[in-house]
Amino acid sequence: MAFRAAIFDLDGVLVDSARLHFVAWKRIADELGIAFDEHDNEALKGVDRMGSLDHILALGAVSLDLPAKEELAARKNGYYLDALATMTDADILPGATALLASARAAGLALGVASASRNAVMVLERAGLLDSIDFVADAAKVARSKPAPDIFLACAAGLDVAPAACVGFEDAAAGVTAIKAADMVAIGIGDAGILAEADLVFASTAAVDLDQVLRLTPAPSQV
Ligand code: BG6
Ligand code: MG
Repeated sequence: MAFRAAIFDLDGVLVDSARLHFVAWKRIADELGIAFDEHDNEALKGVDRMGSLDHILALGAVSLDLPAKEELAARKNGYYLDALATMTDADILPGATALLASARAAGLALGVASASRNAVMVLERAGLLDSIDFVADAAKVARSKPAPDIFLACAAGLDVAPAACVGFEDAAAGVTAIKAADMVAIGIGDAGILAEADLVFASTAAVDLDQVLRLTPAPSQV
């Protein structure tokens, strides 16, 4: 069986937005007096907004009620949106435009499955929205990564069976989500961290699409 769709995570796979998320969370952590650095930020990759806030609060052993947490999450998003206003196509990760073009030329439908509720805006700012056939809406899925929901929603939106999809992710939780969706998983980053992936490349620019397309979906997926 041949692949019919490629489904991409956004932050860290197509666009270099992780830095902007970090700067916004760092500002919140500073305001709360919680020590938070780039190493701590690694654990936030692929994690949704409230999950990220919970992680930072846990670092500072801070406990807040839901309204206070909602205010902080909204404040962080305000900081992030301010930073997003400066995003341009210069923030597309090296190799991402070429990868999308190669996947398109190989006849694949193209989807985005991001935990970010700002995914459409990020794609717009980066000038990539027109290159994508379907963007799954993180606000509409019940469970965030590592659950398979966002990848399954994307496959459904593309009208392609999950077994015929290959997913690309830079976060361990995202790779778990792809595998749970019964798709072939391509990791982008550290092979040790992304050990669950079927194949790992060090960066988006290093992806060899021919090698990816030679992978055979597992028998359970056919
Ligand atoms: C993911 C990022 O793509 O989206 C996380 O890796 C981020 O760092 C998450 O927290 C949620 O993003 P947003 O834009 O909905 O706050
Ligand atoms: Mg990511």
